Amino acid sequence: MTPAGEALAWELTGRTAVVGVIGWPVEHSVSPPMHNAAFRAVGLDWCYVPLPVAPDALAEAVGGLRALGMRGVNVTVPHKRALLGMVDSVSPAARAIGAVNTVVCEGGRFHGHNTDAAGFMRALREAGSVPEGSRALVLGAGGAARAVVYALGGVCSEVTVLNRTPDRARRLVDELSAHAPVARLRAEALGEEALRAASADVDLVVNTTSAGMWPAVTETPWHAGVSFPRGALLYDLVYNPRETALMRRARGAGCRAVDGLRMLVHQGAEAFTLWTGVEAPVEVMYAACVRALGGE
Ligand code: ATR
Repeated sequence: MTPAGEALAWELTGRTAVVGVIGWPVEHSVSPPMHNAAFRAVGLDWCYVPLPVAPDALAEAVGGLRALGMRGVNVTVPHKRALLGMVDSVSPAARAIGAVNTVVCEGGRFHGHNTDAAGFMRALREAGSVPEGSRALVLGAGGAARAVVYALGGVCSEVTVLNRTPDRARRLVDELSAHAPVARLRAEALGEEALRAASADVDLVVNTTSAGMWPAVTETPWHAGVSFPRGALLYDLVYNPRETALMRRARGAGCRAVDGLRMLVHQGAEAFTLWTGVEAPVEVMYAACVRALGGE
């Protein structure tokens, strides 16, 4: 938690530019401490506020952003898809992924972006992965998986998507194949045999499922009878807890495993720069997230 003194010492002015996050719920979001720490660190008179918006109030809330002269917002569950139809322009990434997670308000016009794919790619490269020409296995086929598959589709040679509900994986692959200039995309059910076959020869495993996320910390999408692939890097999008049961499994097999906090920070850093035009203080943002999550 941000110490109360630090929060009080920060003065808003009549000129303070306001951004925030719209979602339902938003009270557990770490984006407000992350962005406010960044604004302070680079000396910008900006602030970031939580904006809880119930699903039936979304259109009204988006109109309100315009009326209030806000400079932009992040968009989170459950509004990311609906925002596509509520902005004046949509970036190619947001269009392909089917979700807007960042809105930039400029001269009364709203521009919809998706910074998740770029944030994932930055975090992946930072972890030492060279995805070019590699084979990737993506677990899950929800909103997060769409951003990951969109990102990997431009660099990997093959991306296999396994999901508990196979129709969702097939739909994802059908919709994103046209936006995957390099990789061949495949989809299957997340069964034990499919997992064994798909994971036999992969360089990268990405967990986009919510299995293992607090409070379901004992859950894992990986079948007990299947070995974790030797030499593969596990990127788990979960960041609470910092080590999931799947990460323990991968590490136990001698593999490297990275949690999702750096992706969260990098998608935020991309949004920060879209709004302000200023390079984001990534390490300040990371430290603020760790503090907000109750870590060191
Ligand atoms: P997000 O937007 O974060 O991706 P989501 O759209 O709700 O969230 O997707 C959650 C993903 O986690 C889905 O792929 C879901 O599988 P289903 O499509 O079959 O529901 C997956 N998931 C959640 N819990 C899981 C579990 N215990 N084992 C395997 N997959 C799980």
